[in-house]
Amino acid sequence: MTASSKMAGVLSSGMHLLNGVYQVNRVLGQGGFGITYQGIDTRLNRPVALKEFFPEGCWRDGTTVISAGRWTVKTYSDAKQRFLQEGQTLGQFNHPGIVRVFYYFEENNTAYMVMEYLKGLSLADLLKKRGGKMSQAEALHYIQKISQALEVLHQSQFLHRDLKPDNIMLTKDERVVLIDFGAARDFTNRHSKRFTAMFTPGYAPLEQYGQALKFGTFTDIYALGATLYHMLTGIVPPSAVERAAGVELKPVCQLNDRVSPHVSLAISQALAMEVTDRIQSVAKFLHLLRLDNHNLETIVVGSNHFYESAKDPWSAFKPNESSYTSEKRENVSNSWF
Ligand SMILES: Nc1ncnc2c1ncn2[C@@H]1O[C@H](COP(=O)(O)OP(=O)(O)OP(=O)(O)O)[C@@H](O)[C@H]1O
Ligand SMILES: [Mg+2]
Repeated sequence: MTASSKMAGVLSSGMHLLNGVYQVNRVLGQGGFGITYQGIDTRLNRPVALKEFFPEGCWRDGTTVISAGRWTVKTYSDAKQRFLQEGQTLGQFNHPGIVRVFYYFEENNTAYMVMEYLKGLSLADLLKKRGGKMSQAEALHYIQKISQALEVLHQSQFLHRDLKPDNIMLTKDERVVLIDFGAARDFTNRHSKRFTAMFTPGYAPLEQYGQALKFGTFTDIYALGATLYHMLTGIVPPSAVERAAGVELKPVCQLNDRVSPHVSLAISQALAMEVTDRIQSVAKFLHLLRLDNHNLETIVVGSNHFYESAKDPWSAFKPNESSYTSEKRENVSNSWF
């Protein structure tokens, strides 16, 4: 599908939803399952991100979304329910590392999720700005925050399923936030023979290609390992299918000699093809990266800073004020703005 035909289905800027409560503005992104708009909560007069359920292949008649392509009325309606469930689940979290969902509703024969608008850029954008990769200190700083959020999800028996630099937002007030949870994809995986954008090759373990649905925390660990691999080498690992066919996954330390051996080893163990060989929990991954509690003082960069903006919402707007104290901390301050 070309970019122009893809854009043909988006709601036009200025449109209202829910009797004028929300106004749709520009498109932030469009993927296999939805269109994300920047919008406004007109009652509170604050920006929001509005995600519309709009699976690839469907089309729009006026504002109404029509199930089409491989989507029957039934599979479309079931997937829409999953999307709404995703909104309900996410709405229950209150963690700085998990995007806040304020509301979800149905309209235009589709569903909408109203989220906080995250001002900043994605980790993928930051990597591009850095020329492809970043230092170990900076990468571990982000990985620790991502892991903290992932651990909260996992403790609630929820998986992300599509962790990758594009789905990690870095905000101006220094939050590192997971977005784009893949519950709807799970449904499609079970009911469709065809693969669409259910996951992203390179970050997805082999079990996500199959129909067996033996997912677990280890599924997100693979993606977390692939994300760190990308951050340190500038290279997306070969897909699990390519690896199964014999393509070698070069260890990180072979591609970047500034990476510590224990970090390279932890990534290899997170990227084990066999579920049983793979690191099973976020805690174990952090331990192998020496980012667990015992080692925080030596490795963690800006740990408490993560929560400070919650205490003082204006801290992000104060120039020349930083709680970064060590030299390492200065290295990872948000110089990308
Ligand atoms: N809460 C948000 N605040 C600000 N920007 C956001 C927010 N959510 C998403 N975005 C932006 O919109 C883009 C697309 O959103 P998202 O990742 O949720 O969906 P997608 O990848 O396009 O679609 P799919 O769910 O089909 O994979 C993101 O890459 C990000 O730039
Ligand atoms: Mg995305």
